[in-house]
Amino acid sequence: MTYAIVYSSKTGNTRLLAETIRDTLPAADCLYFGAPDDAALRADRIYVGFWTDKGTCDADTAAFLARVTTQEVFLFGTAGFGGAPEYFDKILSAARRNLPEGAAVCGSYMCQGKMPMAVRARYEQMEDSPRRQMMLDNFDAALSHPDEAALSRLQDAVQNQ
Ligand SMILES: Cc1cc2nc3c(=O)[nH]c(=O)nc-3n(C[C@H](O)[C@H](O)[C@H](O)COP(=O)(O)O)c2cc1C
Repeated sequence: MTYAIVYSSKTGNTRLLAETIRDTLPAADCLYFGAPDDAALRADRIYVGFWTDKGTCDADTAAFLARVTTQEVFLFGTAGFGGAPEYFDKILSAARRNLPEGAAVCGSYMCQGKMPMAVRARYEQMEDSPRRQMMLDNFDAALSHPDEAALSRLQDAVQNQ
Protein backbone atom coordinates (compact mmCIF):
# COMPACT_ATOMS: atom_id res chain seq x y z
CA MET A 1 0.00 0.00 0.00
CA THR A 2 1.37 3.41 -0.93
CA TYR A 3 1.25 6.33 1.47
CA ALA A 4 2.02 10.04 1.66
CA ILE A 5 2.76 12.31 4.61
CA VAL A 6 1.65 15.93 4.42
CA TYR A 7 2.10 18.32 7.29
CA SER A 8 1.68 21.95 8.16
CA SER A 9 4.06 23.25 10.83
CA LYS A 10 4.96 26.82 11.71
CA THR A 11 7.38 26.19 14.58
CA GLY A 12 8.50 22.58 14.02
CA ASN A 13 6.37 20.57 16.48
CA THR A 14 4.16 18.93 13.87
CA ARG A 15 7.16 18.46 11.56
CA LEU A 16 8.72 16.34 14.32
CA LEU A 17 5.65 14.10 14.31
CA ALA A 18 5.73 13.87 10.51
CA GLU A 19 9.40 12.85 10.57
CA THR A 20 8.66 10.24 13.23
CA ILE A 21 5.97 8.71 11.01
CA ARG A 22 8.36 8.74 8.05
CA ASP A 23 11.00 6.95 10.13
CA THR A 24 8.44 4.37 11.26
CA LEU A 25 7.04 3.32 7.88
CA PRO A 26 8.74 1.57 4.92
CA ALA A 27 10.45 4.23 2.80
CA ALA A 28 9.84 2.37 -0.46
CA ASP A 29 6.05 2.88 -0.22
CA CYS A 30 6.23 6.64 0.44
CA LEU A 31 5.00 8.70 -2.54
CA TYR A 32 5.23 12.15 -1.00
CA PHE A 33 6.51 13.89 2.14
CA GLY A 34 6.07 17.62 2.65
CA ALA A 35 3.65 20.53 2.79
CA PRO A 36 0.01 19.91 1.75
CA ASP A 37 0.07 19.28 -1.99
CA ASP A 38 -2.09 17.48 -4.54
CA ALA A 39 0.86 15.17 -5.28
CA ALA A 40 -0.03 13.40 -2.02
CA LEU A 41 -3.50 12.54 -3.32
CA ARG A 42 -2.06 9.71 -5.45
CA ALA A 43 -1.34 7.60 -2.36
CA ASP A 44 -3.68 4.96 -0.92
CA ARG A 45 -3.27 6.37 2.58
CA ILE A 46 -2.39 9.93 3.58
CA TYR A 47 -1.00 10.91 6.98
CA VAL A 48 -2.17 14.49 7.44
CA GLY A 49 -0.52 16.63 10.12
CA PHE A 50 -1.69 20.01 11.40
CA TRP A 51 -0.99 22.61 14.05
CA THR A 52 -3.97 23.80 16.06
CA ASP A 53 -5.28 27.25 15.23
CA LYS A 54 -8.22 28.50 17.29
CA GLY A 55 -9.50 25.07 18.23
CA THR A 56 -9.22 23.38 14.84
CA CYS A 57 -6.62 22.49 12.23
CA ASP A 58 -4.74 25.28 10.46
CA ALA A 59 -6.21 26.65 7.22
CA ASP A 60 -3.72 24.94 4.86
CA THR A 61 -4.58 21.56 6.32
CA ALA A 62 -8.32 22.33 6.19
CA ALA A 63 -8.03 23.11 2.47
CA PHE A 64 -6.08 19.90 1.83
CA LEU A 65 -8.55 17.71 3.75
CA ALA A 66 -11.35 19.03 1.57
CA ARG A 67 -9.53 17.61 -1.49
CA VAL A 68 -9.39 14.03 -0.18
CA THR A 69 -11.63 11.56 -2.04
CA THR A 70 -11.10 7.80 -1.67
CA GLN A 71 -7.79 7.82 0.20
CA GLU A 72 -7.59 6.61 3.79
CA VAL A 73 -6.60 9.39 6.17
CA PHE A 74 -4.58 9.22 9.38
CA LEU A 75 -4.94 12.58 11.11
CA PHE A 76 -2.27 13.86 13.49
CA GLY A 77 -1.61 17.20 15.14
CA THR A 78 -0.13 19.25 17.93
CA ALA A 79 -1.79 21.82 20.22
CA GLY A 80 -0.44 24.22 22.79
CA PHE A 81 -2.87 23.08 25.46
CA GLY A 82 -2.30 19.52 26.64
CA GLY A 83 -3.46 17.40 29.50
CA ALA A 84 -7.10 16.83 28.57
CA PRO A 85 -7.83 14.07 26.04
CA GLU A 86 -11.31 15.56 25.54
CA TYR A 87 -9.71 18.74 24.27
CA PHE A 88 -7.70 16.82 21.69
CA ASP A 89 -10.85 14.90 20.68
CA LYS A 90 -12.68 18.16 20.12
CA ILE A 91 -9.88 19.48 17.89
CA LEU A 92 -9.72 16.22 15.92
CA SER A 93 -13.50 16.26 15.42
CA ALA A 94 -13.34 19.85 14.19
CA ALA A 95 -10.52 18.96 11.78
CA ARG A 96 -12.42 15.92 10.46
CA ARG A 97 -15.33 18.12 9.48
CA ASN A 98 -13.18 19.41 6.61
CA LEU A 99 -13.16 15.95 5.02
CA PRO A 100 -15.85 15.07 2.50
CA GLU A 101 -18.72 12.95 3.77
CA GLY A 102 -17.82 9.25 3.93
CA ALA A 103 -14.05 9.77 3.91
CA ALA A 104 -12.24 6.91 5.65
CA VAL A 105 -10.24 7.92 8.73
CA CYS A 106 -8.04 4.98 9.76
CA GLY A 107 -6.51 6.60 12.84
CA SER A 108 -5.60 9.79 14.62
CA TYR A 109 -3.13 11.12 17.14
CA MET A 110 -2.57 14.38 18.98
CA CYS A 111 -0.08 15.66 21.50
CA GLN A 112 1.03 18.90 23.11
CA GLY A 113 3.51 21.21 21.38
CA LYS A 114 5.58 24.05 22.79
CA MET A 115 4.66 27.65 21.95
CA PRO A 116 6.84 30.69 21.15
CA MET A 117 8.11 32.78 24.10
CA ALA A 118 6.06 35.73 22.80
CA VAL A 119 2.96 33.86 23.96
CA ARG A 120 4.32 33.66 27.52
CA ALA A 121 5.14 37.37 27.42
CA ARG A 122 1.51 38.04 26.48
CA TYR A 123 0.24 35.96 29.40
CA GLU A 124 2.61 37.82 31.74
CA GLN A 125 0.98 41.11 30.75
CA MET A 126 -2.43 39.85 31.86
CA GLU A 127 -3.87 40.77 35.22
CA ASP A 128 -3.15 38.14 37.88
CA SER A 129 -5.91 35.51 38.07
CA PRO A 130 -6.26 31.71 38.34
CA ARG A 131 -6.79 31.62 34.58
CA ARG A 132 -3.56 33.54 33.91
CA GLN A 133 -1.68 31.17 36.24
CA MET A 134 -3.20 28.14 34.49
CA MET A 135 -2.05 29.50 31.14
CA LEU A 136 1.46 30.19 32.42
CA ASP A 137 1.66 26.70 33.96
CA ASN A 138 0.45 25.15 30.71
CA PHE A 139 2.95 27.18 28.71
CA ASP A 140 5.82 25.96 30.90
CA ALA A 141 4.59 22.36 30.79
CA ALA A 142 4.48 22.54 26.99
CA LEU A 143 8.12 23.58 26.65
CA SER A 144 9.44 20.01 26.56
CA HIS A 145 6.84 18.78 24.05
CA PRO A 146 6.52 16.85 21.84
CA ASP A 147 8.75 14.66 24.06
CA GLU A 148 10.12 11.15 23.52
CA ALA A 149 7.09 9.53 25.14
CA ALA A 150 4.72 11.38 22.82
CA LEU A 151 6.70 10.35 19.75
CA SER A 152 6.77 6.76 20.93
CA ARG A 153 2.97 6.78 21.41
CA LEU A 154 2.66 8.15 17.87
CA GLN A 155 4.78 5.27 16.55
CA ASP A 156 2.46 2.82 18.33
CA ALA A 157 -0.62 4.53 16.89
CA VAL A 158 0.84 4.36 13.37
CA GLN A 159 1.91 0.73 13.68
CA ASN A 160 -1.31 -0.50 15.27
CA GLN A 161 -3.93 1.16 13.12
C1 LIG B 1 -2.16 31.86 15.88
C2 LIG B 1 -2.07 30.65 16.78
C3 LIG B 1 -3.25 30.08 17.27
C4 LIG B 1 -3.19 28.98 18.11
N1 LIG B 1 -4.36 28.45 18.59
C5 LIG B 1 -4.30 27.40 19.45
C6 LIG B 1 -5.50 26.84 19.98
O1 LIG B 1 -6.61 27.25 19.71
N2 LIG B 1 -5.38 25.79 20.85
C7 LIG B 1 -4.16 25.25 21.20
O2 LIG B 1 -4.14 24.31 21.99
N3 LIG B 1 -3.01 25.75 20.69
C8 LIG B 1 -3.06 26.79 19.83
N4 LIG B 1 -1.88 27.30 19.31
C9 LIG B 1 -0.58 26.62 19.63
C10 LIG B 1 -0.07 25.74 18.49
O3 LIG B 1 -1.10 24.95 17.92
C11 LIG B 1 1.00 24.76 19.01
O4 LIG B 1 2.09 25.46 19.56
C12 LIG B 1 1.48 23.80 17.93
O5 LIG B 1 2.22 22.76 18.51
C13 LIG B 1 2.32 24.49 16.87
O6 LIG B 1 2.70 23.51 15.92
P1 LIG B 1 3.91 23.74 14.90
O7 LIG B 1 5.18 23.85 15.73
O8 LIG B 1 3.91 22.49 14.07
O9 LIG B 1 3.64 24.98 14.12
C14 LIG B 1 -1.92 28.42 18.47
C15 LIG B 1 -0.74 28.98 17.96
C16 LIG B 1 -0.80 30.09 17.12
C17 LIG B 1 0.50 30.68 16.60
